[in-house]
Amino acid sequence: MHALIVVAHPNPRSLTHGIAARVGEGVSLSGPGNSFEIADLAAEAFDPRFSLADLAVHHREAPPPADVAAEQARIDRADALVLVYPVYWWSMPGLLKGWIDRVFSNGWAFDFSPDAKLVKKLHGLRVHLVAVAGADARTYARHGYFGAMKTQIDHGIFDYCGATVVTSELLLDSETQDPTAHLDAARDIGRKLFNPSKRCETTEAA
Ligand SMILES: Cc1cc2nc3c(=O)[nH]c(=O)nc-3n(C[C@H](O)[C@H](O)[C@H](O)COP(=O)(O)O)c2cc1C
Repeated sequence: MHALIVVAHPNPRSLTHGIAARVGEGVSLSGPGNSFEIADLAAEAFDPRFSLADLAVHHREAPPPADVAAEQARIDRADALVLVYPVYWWSMPGLLKGWIDRVFSNGWAFDFSPDAKLVKKLHGLRVHLVAVAGADARTYARHGYFGAMKTQIDHGIFDYCGATVVTSELLLDSETQDPTAHLDAARDIGRKLFNPSKRCETTEAA
């Protein structure tokens, strides 16, 4: 089984990158047949800007640009998609949002046309979300931010396309706490990625 771990952070030495690497380590430890690749969107200079060419794809007037088709192909090759990202303004960073905007396109992620029922096309995709947050649990609880993120991201993006969000984690206090607990949690996420007994879960880890 193969995991595609997508990370959206400009600094390869950041906690977010450390967490992505630990998820991969956990996948490798979980079984000899299991593998992973890291898609480092910043290092690869993925262009998150939704262009006229992307709009033509949305209108089903043109095939996806080469960079988008390449991203779709690497998701197609994976048995699990893991997104690891810092929370910016109670959501994902613009780089990752642009990746979603462009890659999860009409015709590949879903079939939309004004005169037909929406067809969800990513039923086989299993998704794991790992958000790294600077704020604490009280702040998230007080404002319902994690619920809002789940509505937008887990439901609004992945459910919309028919994908299954298997786990959705929020790793809190990332700027003030010893990172060991988060790094251990990340390795655990990787270890359990291809464990079929693992059920859907959502956690907020301080
Ligand atoms: C532009 C920006 C916006 C941020 N917005 C939030 C936020 O809305 N909620 C939050 O919990 N942390 C927020 N943070 C803190 C980051 O989530 C935190 O810096 C990150 O998780 C630390 O991980 P890193 O060491 O990998 O950068 C923000 C940080 C930046 C730079």
